[in-house]
Amino acid sequence: MKENNGRVLEYGGLRISPPLLLAPMAGLTHSALRRLVQEQGGVGLLSTEMLAAKRLPHENPTLSPYLVRHPSEQPLSFQLLLTSPAEVAAAVASAEELGAAAIDLNLGCPAPDIRRQGGGSRLMEEPQMVRRLVQETRRRTALPLSAKIRLGEELNAERLRAFCLLLEDAGVDLLTVHARLRGEPYGRKPRWEWVGKVKHWLRIPVVANGGIFSAADAAACLAASGADGLMIGRAAAATPWLFRQLAEGWATDFAPGHDELSTAPSQEQKAAIYRRFCELLKESFTPERRLGRLKEFTHYYARNYQFGHHLAAAVQSSPDLDTARRRAEHFLATA
Ligand SMILES: Cc1cc2nc3c(=O)[nH]c(=O)nc-3n(C[C@H](O)[C@H](O)[C@H](O)COP(=O)(O)O)c2cc1C
Repeated sequence: MKENNGRVLEYGGLRISPPLLLAPMAGLTHSALRRLVQEQGGVGLLSTEMLAAKRLPHENPTLSPYLVRHPSEQPLSFQLLLTSPAEVAAAVASAEELGAAAIDLNLGCPAPDIRRQGGGSRLMEEPQMVRRLVQETRRRTALPLSAKIRLGEELNAERLRAFCLLLEDAGVDLLTVHARLRGEPYGRKPRWEWVGKVKHWLRIPVVANGGIFSAADAAACLAASGADGLMIGRAAAATPWLFRQLAEGWATDFAPGHDELSTAPSQEQKAAIYRRFCELLKESFTPERRLGRLKEFTHYYARNYQFGHHLAAAVQSSPDLDTARRRAEHFLATA
């Protein structure tokens, strides 16, 4: 039988099957979440949180919460936040030394402090700087190279097309498009059809990202975009089993009648998955690093419960991890 019904994405010599990618998310896609998602199955490529290229060469990989990881976390793409070509050589060398399977360039982050430093989505306004950054990265590494963008400042097909072609021409092997403009909030419906435009313009594979929370979303996104792969962000924390469901759904082309709920975990299993995440936090992080990460995860995971806001509030107001766990256990026992 063909692997995942033939669903394979290849870029820069890396085979990703199924073509379901975990999104880079600061504060969320650390070792514990990556392992949780991987244990649930269906994920084709893992990612780090964004890593400041300036700092990466100086981080201690066994102590840095951004770099600690378990050997099972494979393949793992390293997302770099670059602001100058001078940062590239050392950052890429560090990523290679740390066993990166691929490198991704963050060109989409809208956070004001990142933009002020000249990084993230600010770079989409500086195409010539982006060309230099990509060319320099390409020159320094043979690893598969991807970039992640938003749609830009405003809907402008000509400008977006020129920017995407520049990326391809400069040496990017794969492009992920978060289907929103720079200033658009997460509540806004993603513009998946614009990913379709990008796909049409480029020869390299294109991955669609934004607003995929269910098999129905994935099917609609694929229909609208024709993307070669899907990247999942917040839903990885809310429903870490979604990758498995999507892999199963995609294998049957999301045939009508495929009911994602049939493969959703039971309430008991959901409680066990939450406990497992707590265990993974303990394995991965020193005590002072755990509570903040549990709060961030719980913010999303609480959506599984009708009264999940009680779980989120109980964990948010906890002074330490043990209290948070005790309160969470109380909630899970009565949910
Ligand atoms: C908490 C959080 C942190 C994020 N951090 C990053 C990041 O470090 N790098 C990046 O390229 N995008 C980052 N993003 C954007 C996501 O990668 C993704 O593009 C976005 O959440 C849309 O996908 P989703 O609807 O599946 O969540 C972040 C998003 C969230 C919610």
